[in-house]
Amino acid sequence: MATTPIITIKGLSVSYERKRVLTNIYLNIEKALIYGVIGPNGAGKSTLFKAILGLIDTDSGAIHIKGQSIKDLRKQVVYVPQKNDVDWQFPATVYDIVLMGRYPHKKVLEQINAQDREIADQALQEMGILPLKNRQIGELSGGQQQRVFLARALCQQADIFLLDEPFVGIDITTEQTIIATLKKLAQQGKTLLVVHHDLSTVEQYFDKVILLNQRLIICDDTDKAFTPENIAKAYGGQLPILHKTGMIEK
Ligand SMILES: Nc1ncnc2c1ncn2[C@@H]1O[C@H](COP(=O)(O)OP(=O)(O)O)[C@@H](O)[C@H]1O
Ligand SMILES: [Mg+2]
Repeated sequence: MATTPIITIKGLSVSYERKRVLTNIYLNIEKALIYGVIGPNGAGKSTLFKAILGLIDTDSGAIHIKGQSIKDLRKQVVYVPQKNDVDWQFPATVYDIVLMGRYPHKKVLEQINAQDREIADQALQEMGILPLKNRQIGELSGGQQQRVFLARALCQQADIFLLDEPFVGIDITTEQTIIATLKKLAQQGKTLLVVHHDLSTVEQYFDKVILLNQRLIICDDTDKAFTPENIAKAYGGQLPILHKTGMIEK
């Protein structure tokens, strides 16, 4: 039985200064699943997220979320950008950042209230960073900063999560805790798209895989999509190098 997709992408193409980086992408994203978005550096993974969020101009294509434009549904979609896309010197405490997740739920000039604070505290607790609440974001380690952004994402209580390389700079124990949280969210009916570059954990983490390299290679259940043939199609000659860097990092 085919379910109605929560996100539909039809014929999406994106260029930066006339250089094409995504070509004619068609995708149907189903609700309550975790998708791994996999492909080499420069494949257009981050660009795909930015297009879904309406943050960049597209050459062509239509993107719908629950049949509507992102402009009408912004608070239902949460985005955790890739680490190097964030200004970590921004003067704010951990709590400030996490509470930002409540703003989309507020009317203009409406104050943060006790219920918002409770939701924020729960999110901090879930990510194991409640004791860091009053610290400046710039003082934290990379892994702690990443958890702050995930806590903000939880605090937004969105239906759709777009997480761009959330595990970069995070130790393996924290990574396991976070993936458990993400799986719990999927069980609660949330839909998650996660850009991920560690191929060794793909089968363990994701219900479905989107393999991408400018064009869509495949989007399907992980056991069907994540095959050596499809991985080779996506990575081409870059794969051996990727394995080596993976071993150095781990
Ligand atoms: N703002 C930008 N201006 C020009 N080129 C860009 C910009 N952002 C990304 N690119 C280029 O677009 C391609 C896809 O980038 P990106 O979506 O970040 O890939 P990925 O996240 O898969 O590594 C890359 O070649 C990258 O250099
Ligand atoms: Mg990227």
